[in-house]
Amino acid sequence: MSRPLWFAANWKMNLGPDEARAYFKTFRARYHPREQCEVWFFPPAVSLEAAAHAARERADLVVGAQDIHWEPKGAFTGAVSGPLVAQAGATATLIGHSERRHVFGETDEDTRKKVAAALAAGLAPMLCVGETLAEREAGNTLAVVTRQLAGALGGLDGGKLGQITTAYEPVWAIGTGRNATPRDAAQVHREIRAWLAARGMAQARVVYGGSVNLKNVAELLAEPELDGVLVGGASLDPASWAELVQTGAA
Ligand code: PGA
Repeated sequence: MSRPLWFAANWKMNLGPDEARAYFKTFRARYHPREQCEVWFFPPAVSLEAAAHAARERADLVVGAQDIHWEPKGAFTGAVSGPLVAQAGATATLIGHSERRHVFGETDEDTRKKVAAALAAGLAPMLCVGETLAEREAGNTLAVVTRQLAGALGGLDGGKLGQITTAYEPVWAIGTGRNATPRDAAQVHREIRAWLAARGMAQARVVYGGSVNLKNVAELLAEPELDGVLVGGASLDPASWAELVQTGAA
């Protein structure tokens, strides 16, 4: 099988700098570059520099921030900006993760400003979209996802859209042990692709996230609509994350 695949590890609020160094030592010993596979890591901001240093000289390993502020600098206590995380070695950033939206109250307008800030700082944005269980049960999945896409990406042209990776992460599947079926995910991925294609982005990258693990990754990635996975809990142990990537890429 030879299609490009993206495996992204979202560490959330776990693994400080020392742990990040130890993590990469194990991961690099267990996982060697595979053709057409990129492995992305989103450590907490304090661990970015350690992670970027530990991932050096491996073009297949990408380190990114979990979130950025939309301003490049200033009086925003506690926040980090695109230029700051880039200085720490990040080349990508998550934007609009469901925990940012639902725990921290981030809006579609915030995600729009953050996508623009990421592009301005030369960071590859991975935009997260996805519906809650109530929204799915009310039949609003596609309306919610397209609203989130329009909110974050509405003003961008095809060239800029080409730099975006979209992560479809249904909120009800995140950290719950209940993943979307490959078929359900594929249906939403097709809609995301159609939305992007209508705006000039023919080759969209769309990855799936939500309770991906060693047991379900092969079945999920057997679905050609999935260009990869964004993984939280199952990415925290470097040995099993290496195994997950190898299983998914096999
Ligand atoms: P999970 O998290 O794999 O633990 O469900 C995914 C995510 O939040 O990105």
